[in-house]
Amino acid sequence: MEKLKAVYPGSFDPVTLGHIDLISRSCGVFDEVIVAVADNPRKKALFTKEERVGFIQEATKQMSNVSIKVFETLLVKFASSVGAKVIIKGLRAVSDFDYELQMSFINRRLAGDLETMFMMPSEEYSFVSSTIIKEIAALNGDISSMVPKPVEEALFTRLASLNDGA
Ligand code: PNS
Repeated sequence: MEKLKAVYPGSFDPVTLGHIDLISRSCGVFDEVIVAVADNPRKKALFTKEERVGFIQEATKQMSNVSIKVFETLLVKFASSVGAKVIIKGLRAVSDFDYELQMSFINRRLAGDLETMFMMPSEEYSFVSSTIIKEIAALNGDISSMVPKPVEEALFTRLASLNDGA
């Protein structure tokens, strides 16, 4: 039987435990989950694409049906190139919904054979985002319950080096 593949796209700058929770849930539903790291030169990332991929690789190494790829095209083109039929998006709160609904309609207009499926992370991560993590870390707050350990360490190191250069 044909394998059901899903793509889980994002900037992952950096990956959070909320993202990892969603990847893990997706692994229980789909045969293959491809985490698609967006390389968007117009969006200034704190971590390089290689670093972002490395953090996800480390955090998902126990999950046998996950792979991680970088993409720089339209998401629908990438999904089709890897043979995925589903795009997974995380919904944390109602505030995510407007934007995600718009994106899902645009992606459907661009590729009608792809379905977007929404999944909710565990409640404990419902307020966690990469942006909030960076802000807390920049103010020396405790992010240990929100990101994998290597991300926590790398984030404080990166922010310290940015401050040194300032
Ligand atoms: O984690 P993010 O930054 O919210 O992820 C956004 C992402 C990467 C999923 C979105 O920007 C995306 O799909 N980018 C690829 C370009 C594309 O296909 N855009 C959709 C049509 S506007």
